[in-house]
Amino acid sequence: MSVADLKTEAVSILRTNDRGGYTVPTARLYPYQWNWDSGFTALGWATFDEARAWREIERLFEGQWTDGLVPHIIFHQESSDYFPGPDVWQTSKHDPATSGISQPPVVATMVRKLLEASPDPDGVAERVRALYPKMLAYHRWWWQARDPEDTGLVVILHPWESGMDNSPAWDGALTRVPPPRRTDYVRRDTSHVDAAERPRAADYDRYISLVEGFVERGYEAGRLYRETPFRVADISINAILLRATEDLAILAERFGTGAERAELAGRIALMRQAIADCWSPGRHLFQSVDRVSGERIDHVTSAGFLPLYAGVPTEAQAAEMAAEMARWGEGGFLVPTVPHWEASFDSKRYWRGPVWAVVNFMLADGLARCGQPALSARIRADTRVLIERAGFAEYFDPRDGSGRGGGTFSWTAAVGLAWALE
Ligand code: DGY
Repeated sequence: MSVADLKTEAVSILRTNDRGGYTVPTARLYPYQWNWDSGFTALGWATFDEARAWREIERLFEGQWTDGLVPHIIFHQESSDYFPGPDVWQTSKHDPATSGISQPPVVATMVRKLLEASPDPDGVAERVRALYPKMLAYHRWWWQARDPEDTGLVVILHPWESGMDNSPAWDGALTRVPPPRRTDYVRRDTSHVDAAERPRAADYDRYISLVEGFVERGYEAGRLYRETPFRVADISINAILLRATEDLAILAERFGTGAERAELAGRIALMRQAIADCWSPGRHLFQSVDRVSGERIDHVTSAGFLPLYAGVPTEAQAAEMAAEMARWGEGGFLVPTVPHWEASFDSKRYWRGPVWAVVNFMLADGLARCGQPALSARIRADTRVLIERAGFAEYFDPRDGSGRGGGTFSWTAAVGLAWALE
């Protein structure tokens, strides 16, 4: 297919996945609005329908809680295609119903991009003015609920919050999670996608058990933070939050107060130093920290390269990371979630091997930012070849380039439109 045809197909995917101001990631497998999916998807909409891009973000904030949390799923309408739905999450205080955890906070970065790409920045200023305090409340929720001790690193309390659900980095911490009380649940994802491309049953048991624990504690933020058995300072979410805070600080120059600008500058400095301390010299990347055991999580996954996206590495570290990443791509496509020589590598299974277009988008941005334009260009070229060969799949096998997971996927289409096929 020509690039023009691919772009036409990408536009048609977003239109088909549109449910009225928000976009489902793909039909059936993910029938609601997902937090970080919507951020990337808005960039795709902006390439041909800017007003619709803004709606995507506005509809996401319809799910925001009064404490600032922007949930990972907004259940705008009912569906029997997905598990666990609102009856399991039981966060009934909110309308529309939502899940009770969050996801990587890319949204402020995307709002800045939308504003800067707008042909009519003054015309959209009112929309940004309305979104700004909501984004600030969301970032403050991360700091207050998930870093109450002001360490500079926020924690996730569920693998779903990382967006990288079955990353091998979570295997150790998940062993502390007891089996679920409810054992009769029926997964729906494996009726839409080959089970070999999804998390294993043992992972799902733990995912459900953690949700049961949240419900039992009434979603009380302090109790969740202190009592949940899975508490991890995820390197990827921290890099994404830092980057989004830098972008929010730029928006604050026009839409915020002096006190807010000072607050954001303070947070940026604190986070930057804390992420810098997660450098793992022998591994050539940064690593997450298990806050329950207090130990560094010694796994190598592509998440460890994301501090590039927040401009954290020194020049020498960035060069070392680029060399390491290039090694991961030998004989295959960049950037696998796990390099093929690791015991945990599984080329088809979700976040244990496959290439994800949105991760490539962030890593290429980070490499360019940190003085590594050649590898940045290679990642973009690989992403484009994967899309040309396999279409807008949810993720791709890094060895043979085949498409895996859901098809006609919104964020892959969006990243194609906004970047890879540009
Ligand atoms: C899923 O259901 O697979 C999602 O990743 C959870 O948000």
